[in-house]
Amino acid sequence: MTDLSIFTTAVHAGERVPRGEFTPVATPIYPSVGYLYDDMETLDAVFAGTRQGPVYARYGNPTNAALEAAVAALEGGEAALSYGSGMAAIHGALLAAGVRAGTAVVAARDVYGATYALLSKLLASQGVTVHFVDATDLDAVEAALAAARPVALLVETISNPLLKVADLPRLAELAHVAGASLIVDNTFATPYLCRPLAHGADYVVHSATKYLAGHGDVLGGVVVTSAGRRAALNEINKLVGGNLGPQEAWLILRGIKTLPLRVERQCASALQVARWLAGHPRVSRVNYPGLPEHPQHELASRLLERGGFGAMISFELKNGNRAAVFRFMEALKLILPATTLGDVYSLVLYPAMSSHRGLDPEERRRIGIGDGLVRLSIGIEDPAEIIADLEQALISHSP
Ligand SMILES: Cc1ncc(COP(=O)(O)O)c(C=O)c1O
Repeated sequence: MTDLSIFTTAVHAGERVPRGEFTPVATPIYPSVGYLYDDMETLDAVFAGTRQGPVYARYGNPTNAALEAAVAALEGGEAALSYGSGMAAIHGALLAAGVRAGTAVVAARDVYGATYALLSKLLASQGVTVHFVDATDLDAVEAALAAARPVALLVETISNPLLKVADLPRLAELAHVAGASLIVDNTFATPYLCRPLAHGADYVVHSATKYLAGHGDVLGGVVVTSAGRRAALNEINKLVGGNLGPQEAWLILRGIKTLPLRVERQCASALQVARWLAGHPRVSRVNYPGLPEHPQHELASRLLERGGFGAMISFELKNGNRAAVFRFMEALKLILPATTLGDVYSLVLYPAMSSHRGLDPEERRRIGIGDGLVRLSIGIEDPAEIIADLEQALISHSP
């Protein structure tokens, strides 16, 4: 499937694994926990891994295997493992990269709030040393890697919520020179815009809850990597059991079929919305990699494929604070104030209250997440109607 375009791959990858006399066109949902084989020798071989097949749901499942094959094909990776959430996937990748007591991790400072808290609170409490850096400052990254000698460098291709773009080829070089694995959260970019493995990443993680599934009705995560590392991820997961259920795997696999169509349209609409916001008198700043004034616009143009820059935008309300943001969000009629992103619906979120609530206000300010920052996820609706909704809400938010 790797030679086909992403539109074709998204529709067919992972499907139609022959099983017996007929082959279902769409992979069925396998709710079975256990699996039978003709004889004990075969079952033993499946347990040993010398023969492929399901044996127990925590070890793998045919519906999940179809999803994993699809995401691996889209990301250009050898293999993938699905998880019950994006956070479980990130945790799995960190553990597989060797994170444990006495080791260090270097991470981008403006990662998703729960990722930041996983590193700075949970893993730190377990004896992991965590260093946050501005991942757009390659000298700072190099210095942090040299000082910490970490087992992993973790970045987001396009960061949540400040929309900074990571120079993946250079970061991969720096990580590897320092002996670290590069883990890339590709949730915002999706494989439509970027395939981090081709740029040297060792693990690509997704919150499949977002663009991969795309419809706001399922929680899931995926790690894409080499076949060898996938085996290591699965050995860890057999112990911790962060599995994605087969119903959810099926929904994500179904969502993936329209991923390129959705993201193509969402990117085009987001560019229109970002340009419009940038000219609005009640907006003091717009973070969107597709705008020429974005600090990594040139890098984004090189790194991101198909002329797109993503469908996430963040912006500062002029003289914005919590009350002004609340007024603005309550005034929106079409754009939904729901705590998620990447869906067919346009969504708005207040990072200080939700995605980055786990950080104390001082930490948030240091990262650059101010009290007037709003995050938008552009859906597949008519962009003119998205803009009209923003316009009426911006007018009514003003004091
Ligand atoms: C960039 C990014 N990575 C990871 C996650 C975590 O994903 P999940 O909510 O599926 O656990 C999120 C959630 O918003 C996210 O935005």
